[in-house]
Amino acid sequence: MNEFFQMLKKDHVELKGILGQLVEAKEPKKREELFQKLREELVPHMKAEESTFYPPLMKKKEAREDVMEGVEEHHVSDLVLKELEKMPKGEEKWGAKMGVFKELVEHHIKDEESKVFKSAEKALDPDEFQAIMAKFDQEKQKIKKTLK
Ligand SMILES: [Fe+2]
Repeated sequence: MNEFFQMLKKDHVELKGILGQLVEAKEPKKREELFQKLREELVPHMKAEESTFYPPLMKKKEAREDVMEGVEEHHVSDLVLKELEKMPKGEEKWGAKMGVFKELVEHHIKDEESKVFKSAEKALDPDEFQAIMAKFDQEKQKIKKTLK
């Protein structure tokens, strides 16, 4: 399989794992700890996709519609993530919001791995994938450092 997709899928697996732990966690301190971990993984991943993977796809007719949906899903995820960040982790509503957030991110991941990957495969050649992959990783590491 495409090496870049493998890289993204590895992140997705990790993110889904943290989300699963987060909806189970009830203790505020545990929630806080897991939430920080999620943020440090999710934000760099999304931002790096937005700056390195999505733009070249936006230029391709066959991928544009799916990518635009992906961008909007990132946007909504970002908004809910900010709300979750501000809200005290012991608040009753937090668990409900976290549950919805998990579904949102999982839905996005599913769409990305099916629709976006499929159209990207058609739209980009191996050289383009290599270039995107290098930039994606670099960008992700860079953003990660700013979050710690
Ligand atoms: Fe994404």
